[in-house]
Amino acid sequence: MKYVFILTLLVVAAAAGLWLTAVVIRWNDNMTQTPRIMPGERVFSMPAGVVPRGGEMTIPREQRDIAAKRPNPVKSSPGSVALGRERYVTFCVPCHGSEAKGGTTGPVATKFIPTPDLTNAELQRQRTDGYWHSYIVVGGAVMPAYGEALSSHEAWHIVNYLRSVAQK
Ligand code: HEC
Repeated sequence: MKYVFILTLLVVAAAAGLWLTAVVIRWNDNMTQTPRIMPGERVFSMPAGVVPRGGEMTIPREQRDIAAKRPNPVKSSPGSVALGRERYVTFCVPCHGSEAKGGTTGPVATKFIPTPDLTNAELQRQRTDGYWHSYIVVGGAVMPAYGEALSSHEAWHIVNYLRSVAQK
């Protein structure tokens, strides 16, 4: 009788052990085997002419002349310049230098391509706000585009900052 009891106990223990193992294996497996969607892995083409909610039309680089005509919707103010400066420091200093003086004042520019002096009065006069906004959003001849890192609004703030450092 005693053996029957022990045997039952063993069977129950074995079943519990098996069940627990199954749970652990499935848990670990789930954690590592679930499918991941990596950014940019799947690209859904959008119907022509649609604009994402809260977004705006991006004018391609080839149509810079059209983008150059856009007026700056963000009025320059100390707040706007400060925000523009903050974004400039984050994204642009590596190539354009902390004072926007270009050349090789940016640590990356020494190994990349020396950048133009953005404070230059002549360049500042030639370029419209829209032109520089377009440069930031869709990039330049070799300059990378920042449309994915910055909102269009932030790009206008940066333009306001650049205007504030113009040489007189
Ligand atoms: C990887 C280096 C790099 C970074 C980062 C970079 N730029 Fe540039 N930028 C360049 C180079 C090189 C040029 C000149 C060649 C060209 O036109 O592409 C340039 C040109 C420009 C011009 C001059 C356009 C003109 O001819 O009037 C402006 C304005 C400008 N950049 C603004 C910015 C701003 C604002 C940022 C940050 C959001 C930024 N850049 C980030 C490399 C960079």
